[in-house]
Amino acid sequence: MAFSGLALALLLLSLISRATPCTEQDKSSLLQFLAGLSRDGGLAVLWQNGTTDCCSWEGISCNGEGAVAEVVLAKKGLEGHVLPALGDLTGLLRLNLSHNSLSGGLPLDHLMSSSRIVVIDVSFNRLQGELLELPSSITHRWSLQVLNISSNMFTGRFPSRTWKSMKNLVALNASNNSFRGQVLASFCLASASFAMLDLSYNKFTGNIPPQLGNCSMITVLELGYNRLYGTIPDELFNATSLEHLSLRYASLHGTHDGAHVAKLSNLITLDLGENHFTGKIPDSIGQLKQLEQLHLDSNNMSGELPSALGSCSNLITIDLKSNYFSGELSKVNFSTLQNLERLDIKGNNFIGMVPESIYLCMKLTALRLADNKFYDLEELQESQSPFPRDEFHA
Ligand SMILES: *[C@@H]1O[C@H](CO)[C@@H](O)[C@H](O)[C@H]1NC(C)=O
Ligand SMILES: *[C@@H]1O[C@H](CO)[C@@H](O)[C@H](O)[C@H]1NC(C)=O
Ligand SMILES: *[C@@H]1O[C@H](CO)[C@@H](O)[C@H](O)[C@H]1NC(C)=O
Ligand SMILES: *[C@@H]1O[C@H](CO)[C@@H](O)[C@H](O)[C@H]1NC(C)=O
Ligand SMILES: *[C@@H]1O[C@H](CO)[C@@H](O)[C@H](O)[C@H]1NC(C)=O
Ligand SMILES: *[C@@H]1O[C@H](CO)[C@@H](O)[C@H](O)[C@H]1NC(C)=O
Ligand SMILES: *[C@@H]1O[C@H](CO)[C@@H](O)[C@H](O)[C@H]1NC(C)=O
Ligand SMILES: *[C@@H]1O[C@H](CO)[C@@H](O)[C@H](O)[C@H]1NC(C)=O
Ligand SMILES: *[C@@H]1O[C@H](CO)[C@@H](O)[C@H](O)[C@H]1NC(C)=O
Repeated sequence: MAFSGLALALLLLSLISRATPCTEQDKSSLLQFLAGLSRDGGLAVLWQNGTTDCCSWEGISCNGEGAVAEVVLAKKGLEGHVLPALGDLTGLLRLNLSHNSLSGGLPLDHLMSSSRIVVIDVSFNRLQGELLELPSSITHRWSLQVLNISSNMFTGRFPSRTWKSMKNLVALNASNNSFRGQVLASFCLASASFAMLDLSYNKFTGNIPPQLGNCSMITVLELGYNRLYGTIPDELFNATSLEHLSLRYASLHGTHDGAHVAKLSNLITLDLGENHFTGKIPDSIGQLKQLEQLHLDSNNMSGELPSALGSCSNLITIDLKSNYFSGELSKVNFSTLQNLERLDIKGNNFIGMVPESIYLCMKLTALRLADNKFYDLEELQESQSPFPRDEFHA
C-alpha cells in the first residue's frame, strides 16, 4: 500500500515536473543551431542519441509549456557559427554560450526579435564583425537585462540608438573587443535599473559623457584602456552609488576636487592609474570609508599625502608609484590601516624616515619604497626595518 502510494506520488511528481515535452518547432531550431557548428563538443551524440524530448537535452531547459527557456552551453568546446535559428526559440529567456570558440557574427536582431530574452552571454568566443543597430520596430518587446559580449573580436562603431529602447538593461559588458565610437550614456537614460557598464579594452574615443552622472543605480563603471581624453566630468560624481570606478590608461587629465570625491562614499575600487592627472590627493579621501583599492600610479600627481588617508581603514592596496608625491610619509598614521596588504610608492619624492607605523600593518606583504628621497633608509634597514629596500611580491 505504502509502496504503491509512493509510486503514485513519484508518477504524479514526474508528470508535474516534465509537464510537456518540447515542441517540434523548438527541437528543429536547436538541431539547426547544432548543424551550424563545425565542432560540437559531443553535443550531437548527447542530443540525438538520448531522448527525443529536447527539454531533457544537455544544456536545455524548458518552461511548463514545453518551450525552450534556457540554452546554457558554456565551456562545451563549440566551434562554428551562432545561427539565427536560436532566435526562433520564442520562449528563450537565457542564452549562455560563453567560453567556446564560436566565430562569425552575432545575430542579435534575430535573437531579440521573437523572444523575451533576458540574459545573453556570449563572452570569451571569437565572434567578429559589427554589432548592427537593432531595428526600432521590435523595441517594445525588449526585456534584455544582461548582455555580455566581452572578450570577442567585435569591431566597428558601437551601436547607439539600440540602447535607448532597452528599458530593462542592468548590465552591459562589451570589454576586450575593438569597438570604436564615443562612450554613450544612453544606457541609464533608458533604463532606471542600469547598474554595470564595462567598455574597457576597446578603441573608444572622446570625453566621458557627463550624462553618466545621471545613472543613479550604477555600481560598476569601467572605461579604461581606451583612447578617451579630457577630464572626469563633475557630473560623474553625482553617480553616488558607484562602487567600482576604473578609468585606467584612458588619456585623462585634470585635478581631483575634494568636494566631488567625497560624494562617492560607496567606492570600493578607485583605479585612475596611467593617466595624466595632476594635483594632490584631496583630504576628503578620508570619507571613502569602503575603499579597498586605491590606484593612482603613473600620473603626474604631487603634494603631500593627506593624513586623512589613515581613515580609509578598509584599504588593501595603495598604489601611488611613479608620481611626484613629496613630503614625509609619516603624515599618515598607517597603524589604522590594518587590512593593508600592498603599499607601492616607488618613484616619488618622499623624504624623511619611513614611519614606524608602517610596521604595525600586520597584513602587509608587499612594500615598495625605492626611488624616493628617504633619509638614511639604508641605516634604517639595517637597524630596525624588517623590510628590504625594494621588496615587492606581486
Ligand atoms: C548514436 O550512438 C550510436 C552507437 O552508440 C552511434 O553509432 C551513432 O553514430 C550515434 N548517433 C549520433 C547521431 O551520433
Ligand atoms: C555563463 O556560464 C559561465 C560558465 O559557467 C558563467 O561563469 C557565467 O556566469 C554564465 N553567465 C551568466 C550571465 O549567468
Ligand atoms: C558576463 O557578464 C554577466 C553580467 O555581468 C555576468 O553575470 C556573467 O558571469 C559574465 N560571464 C562570464 C563568463 O564571466
Ligand atoms: C567583463 O568581462 C571581462 C572578461 O571578458 C571580465 O574580465 C570583467 O571583469 C567583466 N567586467 C565586469 C565589470 O564584470
Ligand atoms: C581578452 O580576450 C582574450 C581572448 O578571449 C583573453 O584571452 C584575454 O584574457 C582577455 N583579456 C582581458 C583583459 O579580459
Ligand atoms: C540628469 O538629471 C538632471 C536632474 O535630474 C536633469 O536635470 C538632466 O536633464 C538629466 N540629464 C540628462 C542628459 O538626462
Ligand atoms: C550634478 O553635478 C553637477 C556638477 O557637479 C551639478 O551642478 C548638478 O546639480 C548635479 N545634479 C544633480 C541632480 O545632483
Ligand atoms: C608630467 O610631468 C612631467 C615632468 O614634470 C612633464 O614632462 C609632463 O609633460 C607632464 N605631463 C602632463 C600630462 O602633465
Ligand atoms: C595612530 O593610530 C593608533 C591606533 O589608531 C593610535 O594609537 C596612535 O596614537 C596614532 N598615532 C598618532 C601619531 O596619531
